[in-house]
Amino acid sequence: MTTQDDLFQPVIELPEPVRADRYRRLIGLDDIKTRLRKEAMLLADPQRLQLWAEKFHGPEVAATTLFTDRAPLFVFAGDVGCGKSALAESFGCDLADALDLPVYLYRLKLATRGSGLVGEMTALIGAAFEHLHLQGAKSKSTRGINAVSVLVVDEADALVQSRENQQMHHEDRAGVDAFLAGVDSLAGAQVPVLVVLCTNRLGALDPAIMRRAAATFVFDRPDSAQRLTALRHALHGIDVPAATLNRLAELTGPDGTRPGYTYSDLTQRLVPTAVMDAFPDSALTDEILLRTVRAIEPTPIFEENRVAP
Ligand SMILES: Nc1ncnc2c1ncn2[C@@H]1O[C@H](COP(=O)(O)OP(=O)(O)O)[C@@H](O)[C@H]1O
Ligand SMILES: [Mg+2]
Repeated sequence: MTTQDDLFQPVIELPEPVRADRYRRLIGLDDIKTRLRKEAMLLADPQRLQLWAEKFHGPEVAATTLFTDRAPLFVFAGDVGCGKSALAESFGCDLADALDLPVYLYRLKLATRGSGLVGEMTALIGAAFEHLHLQGAKSKSTRGINAVSVLVVDEADALVQSRENQQMHHEDRAGVDAFLAGVDSLAGAQVPVLVVLCTNRLGALDPAIMRRAAATFVFDRPDSAQRLTALRHALHGIDVPAATLNRLAELTGPDGTRPGYTYSDLTQRLVPTAVMDAFPDSALTDEILLRTVRAIEPTPIFEENRVAP
């Protein structure tokens, strides 16, 4: 028998201050956040659409039927270090506020992958969905829903690879099938459970997963205005002249074949490296910042064709 602890990281009840703060600080994702909130509200609590229709139109609005039977699945795809995991693990705070209900964050442990036991991945996925099913059923009563669960499947690259890929191992194909079966079963049961799948490999996503997803969100590297905002936030409290910030935003942009910095290149590499350079004997100067930026190469673009190790 697989227990909750074998399947998931510790479950977190949202809203929670650290994650709410992280959600607010994410830059460049306003459109994604707005759409995600609406989609998530309707998938978790479909009655709201009917209420909307009655309020503004009348009881028989054909367009509302277009939303039935949609799978409660979101795909977050795109470059590394651009906020997929950060948003997946924090948007529940916003959803909880919007619905005025608790949101439980479940993060699937894919740790057993690679241990080589045939069937393990498939069994893990099956057991995880079964668990969420039960949780979802408890979150629903005749009076409506009283909680929402969000399952985040992060770094799902191997899991969601196209089944058309000839090199794909039989066991991985079974993993995709188990995942789709799980998502479909949630859709059928109409329980308030949402699934978010994060991957760096949009192009390699299995078409069946793309078809099922209620929405696919693509995350990009920051443009220059977004880099400037990220740098300003990260360097808040340190007196850096506007001209230097602008110069840093420029130097961290794409240059010929070299891509621009990701958000995490800025916040987890550039600024911490510069701080370490200054610490403990000097202030963080413009010169240190400019020197550090020249020394740090941006994370390479994730190559679609690279064969997974
Ligand atoms: N859009 C963003 N705005 C601000 N910071 C970001 C953004 N995206 C990523 N970061 C920073 O980079 C870190 C890593 O991002 P993460 O969400 O793990 O990237 P991904 O899952 O897309 O590879 C975040 O914790 C955050 O500090
Ligand atoms: Mg991630």
